[in-house]
Amino acid sequence: EKGGYEHFMLKEIFEQPKSIHDTMRGRLLVDEGVIKMAGIWDHLERFKNANRIIIIACGTSWHAGLIGEYLIEEYARIPVEVEYASEFRYRNPIITDKDVVIAISQSGETADTMAALKLAKEKGAFIYGICNVVDSSIARITDAGSYTHAGPEIGVASTKAFTAQLTILTLIAFKLGKHNGNLGNAEFMSLIAELDAIPKRVEEVLSSTHEQIQQIAKDFISTTNFLYLGRGYNYPAALEGALKLKEISYIHAEGYPAAEMKHGPIALIDENMPIVIIAPKKGHYDKIVSNVQEIKARKGKIIAVVNKGDRQVSEMADYVIEIPETSECFSPIVASVPLQLLAYYIAVYRGANVDQPRNLAKSVTVE
Ligand code: F6R
Repeated sequence: EKGGYEHFMLKEIFEQPKSIHDTMRGRLLVDEGVIKMAGIWDHLERFKNANRIIIIACGTSWHAGLIGEYLIEEYARIPVEVEYASEFRYRNPIITDKDVVIAISQSGETADTMAALKLAKEKGAFIYGICNVVDSSIARITDAGSYTHAGPEIGVASTKAFTAQLTILTLIAFKLGKHNGNLGNAEFMSLIAELDAIPKRVEEVLSSTHEQIQQIAKDFISTTNFLYLGRGYNYPAALEGALKLKEISYIHAEGYPAAEMKHGPIALIDENMPIVIIAPKKGHYDKIVSNVQEIKARKGKIIAVVNKGDRQVSEMADYVIEIPETSECFSPIVASVPLQLLAYYIAVYRGANVDQPRNLAKSVTVE
């Protein structure tokens, strides 16, 4: 059932070209220039008239939500807030019937997310679900939703569900932007054509980085700390990269927006600190270059995720992982794949049980 892979997690990482494609199938109609999503279409007025969208989730799904904020604000120009479900539910938040709440959950059973949704529903908000498990509790309580079609995710560490969530959020942002006039037709057409090719880009990354990452992972088996940095859309991707490493390898890792480094974490940098930095061409590249210079000056070990043909960051990096160039909004999908592999191989080489990490459960049905 692991399809020849040693662990479900590795199988699921490699399934991503298919799971992303399946999530877009029937929704993204490139030739017709249309995104079909019944859940959005049937409630378009709720979305168009929304004062704001509040995204609630936990863990990896919350990281997808942060990227959703960047997507929806950039392309649909609707204000978005992203909250941990556990904080939202207990802090007496302001919710009105003009709010749209989107819950993101792979399992559809996360207790805090469920409770936060119930609260939002009581206050009259329109509630929308992005779940992977069909007919799960969250899918049932929501007014409408879009399933991620990632297929069953068995590995406790979420991988293919995360990239499927990003796919749905991208579709929602483009669809809303198209309908409310914030995303012009030419840009819409070019973005959807690029989105359609993302499964292929992910396939390329898997094959071009798989062996290299196994080699890189060997150098970090005894490391005790990691920093992950990114800016813009790749700041949440850095958080997610760090979470993957913590969960399965038990190495302490922190994700940060790269510019926040100088407000604290830079104190940690010395020759023993590996820093994974996500530095694609599109999206604050020059700023990232100066962040890398600051790290280099303090002798941090740099593992850089860059676009093919990159020079400036690559020259300073100790390890260079190349990903294909995409528009910035798609880069977290492509950049997450090598980070999943890195976490996986470091954990495997440390002898950890990657599919069933200690203390973690696949669905967190208690708060
Ligand atoms: C991370 C992970 C957890 C879940 C979180 C939310 O790899 O698996 O952080 O993302 O427990 O779970 P769902 O998405 O099922 O609500």
